[in-house]
Amino acid sequence: MLGQLLFAASRNALVRRSVTAFPLTRKVVDRFVAGESVAQARDAVRRLCGAGLTVTVDHLGEETRDASAAAATARAYVTLLEALRPLELGGKAEVSVKLSAVGQVLDETMALKHAREICAAADAAGATVTLDMEDHTTVDSTLRILRELRADHPSTGVAIQSYLFRSEEDCRALAAEGTRVRLVKGAYNEPASVAHQSSTEVDKAYVRCLRILMSGKGYPMVATHDDRMISITELFADRYGRSRGDYEYQMLYGIRTDRQEALAGAGHTVRVYVPYGGDWYGYFMRRLAERPANVAFFLRALGGK
Ligand code: FDA
Repeated sequence: MLGQLLFAASRNALVRRSVTAFPLTRKVVDRFVAGESVAQARDAVRRLCGAGLTVTVDHLGEETRDASAAAATARAYVTLLEALRPLELGGKAEVSVKLSAVGQVLDETMALKHAREICAAADAAGATVTLDMEDHTTVDSTLRILRELRADHPSTGVAIQSYLFRSEEDCRALAAEGTRVRLVKGAYNEPASVAHQSSTEVDKAYVRCLRILMSGKGYPMVATHDDRMISITELFADRYGRSRGDYEYQMLYGIRTDRQEALAGAGHTVRVYVPYGGDWYGYFMRRLAERPANVAFFLRALGGK
């Protein structure tokens, strides 16, 4: 119930204005967001990679209906990748892209053009690109754009959400040689006609998708903070003969950092999703919605504690 209210708030302009204008909000946002500038994002990347982690950097923003804003987001990614280049991170750096932020809602061809610009800049920086997955109405378009991008940039990855009924089929289609698939539970408020509603069903579906990816030929990116899913991944790795370099774990910036470091210390590749930029509202509200304890943390901070 609280989660649904927060999802609704994440799309409400009035609540957005109130939350973003409140000075103490910033303190809480800083837990989940690396900063507003490219320099702050670069510092976070340097720090995380120095601690033995790898990164995927997200320039915050989503669902633009304005062609010039879409072009500005693509330019922001190019600038970010140029700033990361001198760090010489090798395969440690990736960027995550929300296609709705580069024009998908307006025109799929425009989003593809901008995504190509980002992929070219990533190639030049020795980095990879993964497409985030957004609400269910965008999945077909995102997978079409992925196919186009992979023709020239075969390392381009995509996120698949276990809560969608269709995702087992999508995992089967994607579990081929050379693919990179990030498996997540899903962060949007989806209707019962397309998605599992209970966390038990979402978890079971996660395991089914995980099995398909781990037994397949691609590179699974297991994006979860859930210890049970991590244990099951290890069982599948044993069963399907995958060594540590044949899959990776991913977690969000500021969430379970102790677990991130422990997994990396045990020899796993752990990629931290690092969001940065001024448009943090939607991302921040989804993090609150998926965990009531974060709302308590937010309220305590607003109360000055
Ligand atoms: P679950 O929500 O069941 O949480 C398991 C445990 O993790 C909790 O008990 C708690 O301990 C901890 N935890 C989880 N969320 C927390 C939070 N916000 N704060 C503190 N602790 C928390 N979604 C999407 O729809 N499209 C996408 O492209 C992506 N991309 C993406 C990339 C990466 C790297 C990650 C880790 C996640 C995403 N997601 C996403 C978000 C994803 O769908 C999901 O909402 C969150 O990862 C939470 O799900 P968990 O698997 O962590 O399990």
